Formats: sequence, structure tokens, C-alpha cells
Amino acid sequence: MKNERPWKIGEVFPAVNWPNNLCSSGTAVLMLGLIAAFRVRVIIEIGTWMGFTSQVLGYGLRAMGGGTLISCDYVQNCCDKSKAMLEGVEGVTHRVICNYSDRVNWPAELAAVGETQACLVYVDGDHSYDGALKDMLLTAPVVRPGGLMVCHDYNHVRPEFANATRAIDDFTKECRWPRIVTPFLPSCNEIGAAVLQRPSAS
Ligand SMILES: C[S@@+](CC[C@H](N)C(=O)[O-])C[C@H]1O[C@@H](n2cnc3c(N)ncnc32)[C@H](O)[C@@H]1O
Repeated sequence: MKNERPWKIGEVFPAVNWPNNLCSSGTAVLMLGLIAAFRVRVIIEIGTWMGFTSQVLGYGLRAMGGGTLISCDYVQNCCDKSKAMLEGVEGVTHRVICNYSDRVNWPAELAAVGETQACLVYVDGDHSYDGALKDMLLTAPVVRPGGLMVCHDYNHVRPEFANATRAIDDFTKECRWPRIVTPFLPSCNEIGAAVLQRPSAS
């Protein structure tokens, strides 16, 4: 069947203002599905850029009755954009940390919003091998048993994602959490992601 036009997330989920043709709208829909299916209440997001994923994650929480989003980026402008995306969104506590992710004390940040663990960590910050691996290793201990880690840009095809992809593969081997991957779909601007689930008894 011919794909008549790239679909827009706004048609699927009207509260979210996702720009046309922005890469990885598939990941955005995936996140909304995971938030609903796993009854996600507390999210850590690493790498906010223009605030688009902050918006998706925040509105996903709101759709499920509310929750807490902790967003981190070392660039002040990115933090401001992320904050602006969720200003006044009822039922969502949004804590924005302007710092390098490997300098963040995640248990302390969770405690600051009255939590001890995250239901989901979204990793999309430093895409170097060491940076991506560190983000996964440093946040894994605060993922609740049965909780999720979603690593964006899992892509064995495009060279610019090779380092992050290798880090995701090495983290998966090391932690042995079950994993599924979403495909690289250039025709709908989807780069790919890896979803890992912390086993319930770990
Ligand atoms: C790919 S963009 C994030 C895109 C965003 N998740 C979205 O889809 O809308 C990566 C972001 O990570 C931030 N970043 C890179 N290295 C970082 C680090 N070590 N700590 C925190 N943020 C970092 C960059 O400033 C950039 O805004």
C-alpha cells in the first residue's frame, strides 16, 4: 500500500505539537504506548534539545492521570525550551536539571520530587560511546524492577549512531535485561530505539 503522506503525531495524539517530518515520530508514539501500557508515573529524560520529547513524555503522563518528569540537558537554552513545553500542564511535576548527566545525583533528584525510583529512563543525550554507556550505567540502579530504559538512536546503519549503538549493545550484554529494538524506518523518519526492561527480581 502506498504511503500517501508522512503521518503526524498530532493526528494521533492531539495535545502534542510534534513538528511535521521531525525525525523519530515513531519513537514518540512508542513512548506514549509504553507510558500507558506500563502505567508509567515517574520518568527521567536525558537530552531535551528543543523539548519535543519532554512534551511527548509529559503529555503521556498527563493522559494517564499525571506523574513526574525529570529532564536533563547541559545546555541552558534546551532546558528553557523543555520547561516551556510543559508549563501549566496539569498533573505533571516537571523538574529540569541543567547539568551534564554524569554529574547528576539521580537518587537525590528523585528524592527531591518525593520518589526513589523511575518507572522509565529515556536516554538521548551524549551519543559518544562513553557518554551513552555512562548514562545507562548511572541510571540503571534507579529504574524500578520491571521498569524500562529506552535508548534512542539505536541504529546499525547510519554511521553517526554507531558509537551510541555499540554502547547500547554492550550495556545490554552487561546488564542482561531483556530488550526489544524498534527498526530504522527512513521512510517515516524513524531512527530506531532499544527498549530494555529491568527484570522484576533484580
Ligand atoms: C538528540 S538531542 C535530544 C533530542 C530530544 N530528546 C528530542 O527528541 O526532542 C541531544 C541533547 O542531549 C544534550 N546532551 C548531550 N550531551 C549531554 C550530557 N552529557 N548531559 C546532558 N545533556 C547532554 C544536548 O545538549 C542535546 O540537547
